[in-house]
Amino acid sequence: MIKIVTQSTKKAAFYLQREKVVAIPTETVYGLAGSIYSDKALRTIFELKNRPYYNPLIVHIDGVSSLERVAVNIPQKVYDLAAQFWPGPLTFILEKHPSVSDYITAGRSTVAVRMPNHPLTLELLQKVGAPLAAPSANPFGSISPTTAQHVFSYFKKDLEVILDGGPCEFGIESTIVGFENNELVVYRLGSITLEALESVVGKVSLKTYAEDHPKAPGMLSKHYAPQTPLVLTSQIESLAQQLLGQNVGLILFQKRDLKLPYSIEVLSEKGSFEEAAKHLYDTLHRMDQKGFDLLLIEPFPDEGLGRALNDRLKRASVTETHYTSKNVFCV
Ligand code: TXA
Ligand code: MG
Repeated sequence: MIKIVTQSTKKAAFYLQREKVVAIPTETVYGLAGSIYSDKALRTIFELKNRPYYNPLIVHIDGVSSLERVAVNIPQKVYDLAAQFWPGPLTFILEKHPSVSDYITAGRSTVAVRMPNHPLTLELLQKVGAPLAAPSANPFGSISPTTAQHVFSYFKKDLEVILDGGPCEFGIESTIVGFENNELVVYRLGSITLEALESVVGKVSLKTYAEDHPKAPGMLSKHYAPQTPLVLTSQIESLAQQLLGQNVGLILFQKRDLKLPYSIEVLSEKGSFEEAAKHLYDTLHRMDQKGFDLLLIEPFPDEGLGRALNDRLKRASVTETHYTSKNVFCV
């Protein structure tokens, strides 16, 4: 059903103004966008993604001046952080404006909002003249898309329009923050690191693993997963040795000579977190298509952006004891 893959924001705006859903590029991942003023478009987003209605959406705005259209009682720290990081991958959970639809907030009193940093999407927001609600453009639980091609392969049957802005610059989702007792709390790790946040507002706390009642369902423990079982292991080399002869693919953070007869993908030859983040989802998408029985990936050094990447890998991977099929791997 995809009729249009375009770089024209005019065309994309035309569809959004007619209450349609359009896939949009951002610097993090592609989103499935609808006008925040169209419940019809908002419902379509949930249907397309097969996303439960209890999981709220992020609102994308064209600048700080639009914040008050969607939020009220905005703390000064939001303006301080926005001055530093917007446009960019930082999402705030704020008290919602009464006009914000329950579809967006899942009936909560808060709304998630950010100003994305992609020239086409910023232009689009201006043309549409309304904020856009957009979750990542993937079926619920699967890997987020970082190219128009990923979106196409997920939604070719049901979506009409993709605004193609090329591969995403950062490659993992935005950092989500909120306030508890006036203190900044990080609910989802992302491209803006804890260190970067602390350089603006001082100490922040981290609450990303709430298993029972996640504040942000990006906090659900199983998420961002490929179809092929993915094992996260710090012993990748010895595990690969044990599995010799099996149909296994390996993903390494940086280049080194393993001397093992496997299909090996390297996320960043020179060991850069930024480059690895940019390639991570695309690599998982590609490895997932290759028909392996199992994928092995190693964790990143647990600092800076490496922490956000490890968070995604933990959610994308099976626990070692879960994977027993074909006797490929059983711990
Ligand atoms: O980088 C990103 O954030 C991308 C691009 C498209 O902007 N969007 C994205 O959206 O990752 P999504 O829906 O995949 O993840 C948004 C997360 C979800 O885990 C959702 O539960 C949480 O934000 N969220 C949204 N509104 C919330 C609210 N009011 N309170 C708590 N969590 C909220
Ligand atoms: Mg998502």
